[in-house]
Amino acid sequence: MKNILVTGALGQIGSELVPALRSRYGRDHVVAVDLREALPDFRDSGPFHRLDCRDTKLLARLVKKYSVDTIFHLAAILSASGEANPGKAWDVNINGLLSVLEIARELGCSVFTPSSIAAFGPNTPKDYTPQDTIQRPTSIYGITKVSGELLCDYYWHRYGVDTRGVRYPGIISSVKEPVGGTTDYAVYMYYDAVRKGRHTCFIKSDTYMDMIYMPDAIKAAIDLMEANPDRLRHRNAFNITAMSFCPEDEAAYIRKYIPDFEIDYDVDPVRQALANSWPNCLEDYAARVEWGWDPQYDLDAMTREMLSVLRERFSGDKGKGNGRKKSRR
Ligand code: NAD
Ligand code: SER
Repeated sequence: MKNILVTGALGQIGSELVPALRSRYGRDHVVAVDLREALPDFRDSGPFHRLDCRDTKLLARLVKKYSVDTIFHLAAILSASGEANPGKAWDVNINGLLSVLEIARELGCSVFTPSSIAAFGPNTPKDYTPQDTIQRPTSIYGITKVSGELLCDYYWHRYGVDTRGVRYPGIISSVKEPVGGTTDYAVYMYYDAVRKGRHTCFIKSDTYMDMIYMPDAIKAAIDLMEANPDRLRHRNAFNITAMSFCPEDEAAYIRKYIPDFEIDYDVDPVRQALANSWPNCLEDYAARVEWGWDPQYDLDAMTREMLSVLRERFSGDKGKGNGRKKSRR
């Protein structure tokens, strides 16, 4: 990877992937693009352009202008937003991806595209969900994710485009609050614990889903794109996970650090139905063997660090980077 373009750069993942890529490859070697306008801080930190990922012509111009050889394609509509507007989810997630794949084919780029635990459905084995298994998702988001996995495989087999991707679990992070997802509850619980000491959860107390802390999610994307291609058998849809927990488990770990923390439940039927249709916990052996996937954070290490970063932020002490310590499990 010499020159990189990141679509959906202002989202939950892009807000942390872009700085990580810039510190590794150099600020002017990473072009950030998004449908929305960036805040001045982000605009000043390296090249930024507004781009609808379905606009193939403008995408081609930017790829040529910056001699881009690798695209991290993050622009998408997530699960709960997708259920609110299925047509838009299909259009952005499928036509946006097709536009990226076509430009990659014409101009010789590698492509990273995240899939999701949402690519599985109610008749997928729920525990230790295998790498290769039944995928009949019931949400529009999940349908676009399976289609995306297949499209990326197709561009590799048919045209030799170097496509790679992981099935991300719910991602927990402290830089950008997520919007429009189902696993977002797990992020909001940390924010509420620090700001209010209590949280009303929209997912039932005993619903298990896979999760991952952002530093591991970023590391996965970079490690996979830097992996030796000769070792990759799966390419576009590696199961990865770092932990599996339910809201009650997260609340218990928060209480280790905030003993008075309280939780109650006001379940959202749409997001609960999405969560019910996804696995309890994935098996991620292929990622470990084919490119060395090895997450660093478990629920305890992540909880400690999330609470510490958010406490620092909300006490008004903003001048110390992202506040992350080197603590690992
Ligand atoms: P996000 O919703 O936080 O960010 C998406 C970004 O895409 C936003 O900044 C939005 O402005 C932009 N965008 C939307 N439509 C666009 C368009 N037409 N053209 C250009 N930009 C557009 O999403 P995220 O959480 O950062 O997720 C990134 C990718 O990772 C997505 O493919 C998502 O499905 C996948 N993923 C995320 C999670 C998670 O927990 N965050 C889990 C699994 C998979
Ligand atoms: N975290 C995502 C969501 O909940 C799953 O891909 O939508």
